[in-house]
Amino acid sequence: ELSPIDKAKFAAAKKACDYVETGMRVGLGTGSTAAWLVRCLGELVREEGLRIKGVPTSFRTEELAREAGIEVVSLEEARWLDVTIDGADEYDGELNLIKGGGGALLYEKIVATASDQMIVIADSSKHVDRLGAFPLPVEIIRFGWQTTKALVEETLLGMDVLGREATLRMTGDTPFVTDEGNFILDLDLKRIGNARQLSLMLNQMPGVVENGLFLDICDVVVVGHGDGRIEVCD
Ligand code: A5P
Repeated sequence: ELSPIDKAKFAAAKKACDYVETGMRVGLGTGSTAAWLVRCLGELVREEGLRIKGVPTSFRTEELAREAGIEVVSLEEARWLDVTIDGADEYDGELNLIKGGGGALLYEKIVATASDQMIVIADSSKHVDRLGAFPLPVEIIRFGWQTTKALVEETLLGMDVLGREATLRMTGDTPFVTDEGNFILDLDLKRIGNARQLSLMLNQMPGVVENGLFLDICDVVVVGHGDGRIEVCD
C-alpha cells in the first residue's frame, strides 16, 4: 500500500503518460516523482508496445530508464524533443517553477528547453502563491566558488527578496557535485519578488552556470492528490 504522497506522485506520473505517443523523443526528468514516470513509461514499453527514445536529465535517471527497458539516447543524438516530463520543487499559478532540489537543474533546463512541451508532475504540496520558500539552487563552477558565493550574496542585496543567505550544498562533509562536475549554492530567499530579474542577474555572473528558476518553460502541471485524484493546470 502506497503512502498518500507516493499515491499522489504515482497518479500524476500515470496521467502524464497520456502526453507520450509512439515515435516520440521524450525528456525524462529527475527526482522521486520523475522516477514514478520512468516506471510507468517502462511498463508501457514492455507491455503495451510503446516505442520511444528517452533522453535522461541525470545519470540516476539514465540508470532507471535502462532498468525499465526504455531506449536511451543522448541529447546530442536526439537534438530536439517532443516532450519532457519532470518533477518540480515549487510551481506557481503561472506555471513558473523552482527546480534543482535533486541537483539536476542544469541538464533539466537544457532538455526542457529543447522540447516542444514541458509537462511537470507534482503532488499538491508543491504549489505556492509566490516562488521562494524552497531554497533556490544555483549551479556554480568549482573554481573560485567562495568568491562566486560572496558575489551572489552581494548581488542579492539589491534584489527584491526576503532572505539573502547562500549555502554550499553538502553531502556529508564534502560538497555535493553535479553530473557536470559543478557545485550548488542553495539560496534561502523566502520570497522572490521579481523572478525574471533575479534569474537574469544570477546567470550573468561569472562562475554561475545556471539557476533553478524555470520561467515560461513549463506548459502543463499535472497535480496529484493523496487520494489518487489528479488535476491538470495549463
Ligand atoms: C531535480 O534536480 C529536481 O529538479 C527535481 O525535479 C525536484 O527536486 C523534484 O523532486 P521530487 O519529485 O523528488 O520532489
